[in-house]
Amino acid sequence: MAQPVVDAEYLKEIERARRDLRALISSKNCAPIMLRLAWHDAGTYDKATKTGGPNGSIRFEEEYSHGSNAGLKIAIDLLEPIKAKHPKITYADLYQLAGVVAVEVTGGPTIDFVPGRRDSSACPREGRLPDAKKGSQHLRDIFYRMGLTDKDIVALSGGHTLGKAHSERSGFEGTWTKEPLKFDNSYFVELLKGESAGLLKLPTDKVLVEDPAFRPYVELYARDEEAFFKDYAESHKKLSELGFTPP
Ligand code: HEM
Repeated sequence: MAQPVVDAEYLKEIERARRDLRALISSKNCAPIMLRLAWHDAGTYDKATKTGGPNGSIRFEEEYSHGSNAGLKIAIDLLEPIKAKHPKITYADLYQLAGVVAVEVTGGPTIDFVPGRRDSSACPREGRLPDAKKGSQHLRDIFYRMGLTDKDIVALSGGHTLGKAHSERSGFEGTWTKEPLKFDNSYFVELLKGESAGLLKLPTDKVLVEDPAFRPYVELYARDEEAFFKDYAESHKKLSELGFTPP
């Protein structure tokens, strides 16, 4: 599909949608699932074939019915009225904007947002997103395929400061932090504590403290929230722009 024309009118529409997203996300407390939707649309990117990525293809049943996307239809449906109100804005831009607003309204860093993503109807095959039961090599295989780095892996895993796992969706249950609607560095603080009562740690979270190349970032982000926010904002922008050349 064609790249949208990002003129003054498109930019105004983005600002209007941003306001509607702030209201929706605050009133429904749905920041976590919006962030997960943005990540799962983007995280299918394969830099070798330039396929997948933040292109709105997760709106199709073929893709949202993948096992790793369980539950995300809820977020897709919540965004439909905003798409209907701002039809000019592509799904690809809308989903990434929702991710950026989700981080912002829960107290996280401001993430630079550049619009102009085109929509695609080509859904990637199942299996491009990480499997929570695997280890560091798997995380690297998946994130390097996107063109991302060890630092991006650790910073972006900090997204688990928000939300929870639902046993009926992923087989895991619980929150990573005590305040799952607050974007802060507590994910890393809890990781370093080891088994904290009542909090969730996926196998792919635990490897961040075990792997010698990942661990220094966990330690840095646990003691320095500003460093986490700065790196998170950079890595999130990269994720949201995989395969995207601004018009
Ligand atoms: C939730 C795995 C990276 C954001 C989850 C869940 C799993 C998971 C299993 C629970 C889903 C459910 O049961 O509802 C992973 C793995 C990752 C990863 C293996 C590899 C590093 C990320 C990244 C972000 C992110 C990069 C965003 C920057 C979230 C959020 C939730 C979540 C916000 C909570 C959703 C909700 O409350 O509904 N993740 N994730 N995750 N993930 Fe990740």
